[in-house]
Amino acid sequence: MAPDRELFRTPPARAMLAASIFSADFAALGEASLAALKVGASLLHVDIMDGHFVPNLSMGPLVCAAVRRVCPDAFLDVHLMVTNPKEFIPAFVKAGANSVSFHVEAVKNPKELAAFARDLGVSVGLASNPQTPTAAIEPFLNDFDLHLVMSVHPGFSGQGFIESALEKTKWIRARVGSRARIEMDGGVEPSNGARCVGAGADVLVSASALFGKPNLAQAAKDLLDSFSTTSRVD
Ligand code: DX5
Ligand code: ZN
Repeated sequence: MAPDRELFRTPPARAMLAASIFSADFAALGEASLAALKVGASLLHVDIMDGHFVPNLSMGPLVCAAVRRVCPDAFLDVHLMVTNPKEFIPAFVKAGANSVSFHVEAVKNPKELAAFARDLGVSVGLASNPQTPTAAIEPFLNDFDLHLVMSVHPGFSGQGFIESALEKTKWIRARVGSRARIEMDGGVEPSNGARCVGAGADVLVSASALFGKPNLAQAAKDLLDSFSTTSRVD
């Protein structure tokens, strides 16, 4: 079975867990990726950092391709935290990405780059940093399959959840309805999962609350249980 290329183009019945492999054991990345899918992650989130847009380095297309080889059925959600996404999008598509997200802060013409990426056959996401105002993404709300709301400062896993991301999520959901996915990225854990979903997020990324726990299956269950607890944010 190939990955469901339309995963981000259809509203899910329930919020999905995206396992961020950034916190997996890089020496056993294939096994860790398969294990996350087995315990209930709907997709793998692949964090790409260039040491320029963010003060850290992570992985490149070769690593993404290696994950694709081991997980032929997985939906690979590539999050580009790079200054020049256009230069790297084709390489990540070739490496097996099903979706690529780039940052509104890094790009002059997000709409044009969305069309460029979509022409290569992938879903496209627009990411914004915690301090970036909604006005910066407002012109592009209907040009993307996914809006990625950073709920930590990009560059590192294991940081605390920034509460203002909930307001931004509500604001986006009120405008896109069910036409786009909203991905909460950073600091997601069982204690805030319900509030993320209540605000309108339907893809929730987790790195440390998943791979950082001693029991992966229990960690996934705790996260997924929290997503299905109804708690609206008013
Ligand atoms: C941060 C990345 C996140 C990160 C999440 O720059 O974009 O995807 O891996 O890590 P946690 O879940 O530990 O906050
Ligand atoms: Zn990410």
